[in-house]
Amino acid sequence: SVLHAFLHELPKCEHHVHIEGTLSPEVLFSLAEQNGIQLTSDDPALASPDTLRRRYENFASLDDFLHYFFIGCSVLLTSSDFELLTYSHLEKLHAQEVRHVEFSFDPQVHVARGVSYETIVSGLTTARTRAAHDFPDMSIAFIPCLVRHLPKNSALELVSDLLDLGYFADGTLAGFGMTSTEIGMHPSGFSTVYKALREAGIERLTAHYGEEGPAEYVEAAISDLGLTRIDHGRRASEDAALLGRLAGAGTMLTMCPISNVVLKGVGSIRDLPVRDFLTAGVRFSINTDDPAYCGAGLLDNYCAIQEAFDLSIEEWEFIASGAIEGSWCSQDRKQYLK
Ligand code: ADE
Ligand code: ZN
Repeated sequence: SVLHAFLHELPKCEHHVHIEGTLSPEVLFSLAEQNGIQLTSDDPALASPDTLRRRYENFASLDDFLHYFFIGCSVLLTSSDFELLTYSHLEKLHAQEVRHVEFSFDPQVHVARGVSYETIVSGLTTARTRAAHDFPDMSIAFIPCLVRHLPKNSALELVSDLLDLGYFADGTLAGFGMTSTEIGMHPSGFSTVYKALREAGIERLTAHYGEEGPAEYVEAAISDLGLTRIDHGRRASEDAALLGRLAGAGTMLTMCPISNVVLKGVGSIRDLPVRDFLTAGVRFSINTDDPAYCGAGLLDNYCAIQEAFDLSIEEWEFIASGAIEGSWCSQDRKQYLK
């Protein structure tokens, strides 16, 4: 596209990428082998990296994707597995002029398999330390996410464990999010969990809503959970009053354009409410979500938006400066990024 070079050079932020979603079929198979994890199943897609990659091209829905995403999670065992995924993605983002990165991850899924918080966190922080040396112009944050289809007691345990370990207080973790299946998972079911976080002084709160679910979920997530950010938020566009409220509060939506197409939330990039968000003055960023499952990097997502909407330089400047302002980093760092 005409603006490809401009979009490459534009200082970018990535706010929505799941560490587990950067696991390619090739690395999935090699870690399974290395860690002695059996992938045997009746599913022919699990025969080889090639068959798996082809299956990823035909996701029917978010839930169909999540089935494979959680199989992928099962091969991650050691801190070096988490380090490898994190560092590899940072390397790719650095080559695309990305200056600030926030990684999500799903602790409950790993802890349930006997992987400790310390194992996961040491992998992430080792990658961050290496990146601080190799890519000194990047800032990096980590966001643990509640996996909302798991039992409620597991959710409360996650929050109390993370608070006990001191990971928020010492800056290891930047905020808190929520992932997994959405339909039927009304925010009201999670008010106790988010209340515990707010009472502990955690203000950087997000959750995946409006990816498949209605605007009403997004509205309830803001009102009942006290969210200061929404992951996806796509369907917020169906409620004009909600858009006004998001714009007024400066609530950032972390959009994932290619993921929304690959996971069948929308038929094409053109169906995304980018114009509605720009017109209403809603802050949003552009992100990869699960790049190894969606087959696209960050710049691919920026270019897809440009090709579909033919945005002006001024519109891109609004998007880029909003993304910096909505980042979970210090005011000093934001100032520097601008
Ligand atoms: N976990 C990983 N990617 C996700 C997505 N796009 N939506 C919900 N949960 C997820
Ligand atoms: Zn996501």
